Amino acid sequence: MRADQVRKIFDGYAVLRGISLDVARGELISIIGPSGCGKSTFLRCLNFLEIPDSGTVDIAGVTITRTGGRWTRQEEDAAHRLRAHVGMVFQSFNLFPHRTVLDNVMLAPVRVKRMPADEARAEALALLDKVGLSAMATRYPDTLSGGQQQRAAIARALAMRPDVMLYDEPTSALDPELAEEVLSVMRTLDNEGMTQLVVTHDMRFARAASDRVVFMDGGEIVEADDPDRLFVAPEDPRTRRFLRSVL
Ligand SMILES: Nc1ncnc2c1ncn2[C@@H]1O[C@H](COP(=O)(O)OP(=O)(O)O)[C@@H](O)[C@H]1O
Ligand SMILES: [Mg+2]
Repeated sequence: MRADQVRKIFDGYAVLRGISLDVARGELISIIGPSGCGKSTFLRCLNFLEIPDSGTVDIAGVTITRTGGRWTRQEEDAAHRLRAHVGMVFQSFNLFPHRTVLDNVMLAPVRVKRMPADEARAEALALLDKVGLSAMATRYPDTLSGGQQQRAAIARALAMRPDVMLYDEPTSALDPELAEEVLSVMRTLDNEGMTQLVVTHDMRFARAASDRVVFMDGGEIVEADDPDRLFVAPEDPRTRRFLRSVL
């Protein structure tokens, strides 16, 4: 997965000022930085929920380069193909409230991929088992804890067999104990070789679980490095100031 010089302008203001990041298969990358620095916009640009004004995104062999023109039908088709390789998880879970947990996980494979229901159900049950929710398959989302709902959301994203998982503050709405259940699923996926990008405020997780930590500020990547280096000896004064404020 690769982003090269991704720029995004909102109302004449450059929110992303040329973000470049190469992500190796199986890497777990934490993205940290102050509120408003562009972390969510960057994640959303990676699967074209926001359309970058310029720059290149390459995921699983689908490459889209923007050069400032209007968004074309061909680009939308390419984005559609690219999104098939990307799973996204949000702070607010976003499960379908009137569907059981099992249905939430089965729905996209059946509807989008035309997978036979039996096969989709078997796969969904295996995924629910992986995230520790076997017992919750027939429940409705609002009867689950936040941590359980977020794990169901992860299972739902995994059901499309993505190459890359993107998480935008997946544990920010959760108590520490429930957050830990979610982080533990992400560690398991890391061990299985999943490529993951996580926007997080959880510095302990960023330091302990990431292969690399990216610090963003003002729409730029200020530094990106091994967590043991970045957290211990940050190079840039902005990184130092940020870490002092959160640690
Ligand atoms: N849809 C939008 N329209 C206009 N401005 C936006 C939009 N989305 C985000 N922004 C602005 O872009 C900047 C970066 O936002 P965001 O990516 O959400 O930051 P972060 O996730 O790091 O907190 C902020 O100043 C925000 O107000
Ligand atoms: Mg955000």
